[in-house]
Amino acid sequence: MPVAVIILAAGQGSRMKSNMPKVLHRVAGAPLLAHAMMSTQTIADQIVVVAGVGAERVTTAATEFDPDAQVVLQAEQLGTAHAVQQAEAALSDFDGDVIVLYGDTPFITADTLEAMIAARGTGNSVVVLGFEATTPGRYGRLFTKNGSLEAIIEAKDATPEQLQITLCNSGVICADRALLFDLIREIDNDNASGEFYLTDTVALARKRGLTCAAITCDEAQTQGVNSRHDLAAAEASFQTRARTAAMENGATLTAPETVFFTYDTHIGRDVVIEPNVVFGLSVTIESGATIRAFSHLEGCHVSQHATIGPYARLRPGAEIGDHAKVGNFVEVKAALVGEGAKINHLSYIGDAEIGEDANIGAGTITCNYDGVFKHKTVIGARAFIGSNTALVAPVRVGNDAMTGSGSVITHDVPDAAMGIARAKQAVKLGLALRLMNKLRAAKAAKSKE
Ligand code: UD1
Ligand code: CA
Repeated sequence: MPVAVIILAAGQGSRMKSNMPKVLHRVAGAPLLAHAMMSTQTIADQIVVVAGVGAERVTTAATEFDPDAQVVLQAEQLGTAHAVQQAEAALSDFDGDVIVLYGDTPFITADTLEAMIAARGTGNSVVVLGFEATTPGRYGRLFTKNGSLEAIIEAKDATPEQLQITLCNSGVICADRALLFDLIREIDNDNASGEFYLTDTVALARKRGLTCAAITCDEAQTQGVNSRHDLAAAEASFQTRARTAAMENGATLTAPETVFFTYDTHIGRDVVIEPNVVFGLSVTIESGATIRAFSHLEGCHVSQHATIGPYARLRPGAEIGDHAKVGNFVEVKAALVGEGAKINHLSYIGDAEIGEDANIGAGTITCNYDGVFKHKTVIGARAFIGSNTALVAPVRVGNDAMTGSGSVITHDVPDAAMGIARAKQAVKLGLALRLMNKLRAAKAAKSKE
């Protein structure tokens, strides 16, 4: 049975106190909306996002994540049923089940959605995802009788007795497309909020004698974001899961609570991650690599058995080869660092290629930017770059070549050659002592004045 997903993302999110639509706030590097979309990737044949507040930016984010996603507009936010109704035209040719998700609820898993689809398959016309709430508060309550779902009662409309129910509505609902839109047409806004409640579909389906069911998931999956506090809590729970997953997959985290991942970080087996490491978007660390303390990595690839840090910064396009070493206070951007190459101290390597087993001395800088254009530096295999060399790109240092420390290299250095570009040293015998004595005498004369 084909499955379509409608993601509601039109709300203002006023409690965020933000100029940005709520669903665009990020958890683990991805907008909340993208998290919701991610969970549907394996099951959805069609995705429709309902945008309203900040629709243009929401559209950009949705299509950036999934170019096939459709976005429809809900100009006025009249309630969740009204929001779903805006997707009706986009799904007019669709025949199958529809799942409604919220864009501000990022952690519902694909497995949970599969379980809902399975429950639809066993004769339930409407399937709702519920959870046992530790604090039921403002959640809608799932009213069940003999194990089947009779109605969803919004907290604002509930009697004190109904408010005692702890089985709550996550907001996720699944029904046949034609039935869903049919039921929605019957929904009115005669309730405490004056909104068109999607949750009314359950009571309306029951009125027709149709069976409804609630399936449940862990409360952690239903964690929604309404405020900056919620956002921080969502980030924290994501990080806890990511750390656990990294360890379960065979990585060592010496202080897991100080390591931060994004949704797309890939960590191989036997990777060691020391304390206080931050991974930005798109990082892959291959097996056996070590990421030492206080390093920051984004958009990079670290190959097997490489060592990064402590205090290293890998920026987008850094490709670190097997057994290579990037040491303290080294920044690498858009550069290939060959197998076994070493950049151990205090360097900036940008827009460069470094051959295998090259040794880049302390303080080496690739001068890659002329103020307008970026230029490339190529360093050959086994080259030895003397400490404090400035490599003014575009420039090439050949295989087995060397540069004298302190050189400003503006011309290519051929294979096996030595490039030295610094003033010649002069030695003046006795001058240091004579100078010192003169200065001391001048100081003594001054203090007598
Ligand atoms: C909703 C449910 C409630 C459930 C809770 C879980 C209804 C009537 N109530 O309540 O049973 O326990 O979620 O969090 O459905 N939205 C739109 N357009 C609208 C209204 C809402 O796109 O016109 C979007 C919001 O942006 C949000 C989601 O739908 O992402 C939920 O809306 P919200 O107003 O937060 O619903 P709740 O009152 O929390
Ligand atoms: Ca809400």
